[in-house]
Amino acid sequence: MNHFLDINKTDPAALRAMIDAGHAMKAARNGRPKGLPDDDQPLAGRMVALIFEKPSTRTRVSFDVGVRQMGGQTMVLSGADMQLGHGETIADTARVMSRYVDLIMIRTFEEATLLEMAEHATVPVINGLTNRSHPCQIMADIMTYEEHRGPIRGRKVVWSGDGNNVFASFAHASGQFGFDLTFTGPEPLDPEQIFLDEAHAKGATVRIERDPFRAVEGADLVVTDTWVSMHDPQSARERRHNQLRPYQVNETLMARAKPDALFMHCLPAHRDDEATSAVMDGPHSVIWDEAENRLHAQKAVVRWCLGV
Ligand code: CP
Ligand code: NVA
Repeated sequence: MNHFLDINKTDPAALRAMIDAGHAMKAARNGRPKGLPDDDQPLAGRMVALIFEKPSTRTRVSFDVGVRQMGGQTMVLSGADMQLGHGETIADTARVMSRYVDLIMIRTFEEATLLEMAEHATVPVINGLTNRSHPCQIMADIMTYEEHRGPIRGRKVVWSGDGNNVFASFAHASGQFGFDLTFTGPEPLDPEQIFLDEAHAKGATVRIERDPFRAVEGADLVVTDTWVSMHDPQSARERRHNQLRPYQVNETLMARAKPDALFMHCLPAHRDDEATSAVMDGPHSVIWDEAENRLHAQKAVVRWCLGV
């Protein structure tokens, strides 16, 4: 079963093929209206369930549009409106859903929910974000880097901010795609050590550098994300802002990266907190391509899951 649960759990050759397929499908559409189907209709007759236990704009819309462009049908479901949100087990939900649909994408809180869904589903399951990782986002990010600058292998990626779920998928990707990764952020918000150890074990150079200005020296790509994630308690907001303020990505920080460095943010952004508008809208930023590429990269993920 081709579940897409995390980048570190997926074969590197398959990951590479998905990125290449994303580029090819993007090129093949060549600016045609979004509502027009692809020439190729590999999902004809397929039904895809998109389950959300947290808010979403990009993930919801890009999966929905992508599946429809490939000829499939979708249903977008809110976890709170399902029996899942009222005591039915994940395992039973997975068994039942598998009788109706060909693929399940789920955005949830606990990683255990995703894993239980995958264990009991008899159709492929895609991770649309958990508290611990966000693999679809980083597939789009790799695609975006390579679209602008060529192979990411051997490049220096710097993450400035919270050691969160999106960072974790970057760490997974550093091991699989072979790029160097530097985390810079306050010690209390360090990523789980296992993410760094795993990447290191796969031969990637991953390190922590407390000084953001030293961290970004020679960076090919600078990335950040919100200072308070959806699963973080709002009561932690002020403390996190105080801890993370020195790690804001602003023009002064970007000036220390390579002159042709790219800037990415998975969005949604809190402008002038984790990144200034000057950077988000400035010459290094590729955030709109990054958002668009969720569509193309995920179409490739869906095809790989279904083997079509
Ligand atoms: N980046 C991302 O996953 O955005 P959404 O929360 O809008 O889906
Ligand atoms: N780290 C963020 C990513 C949102 C796409 C969150 O989990 O809220």
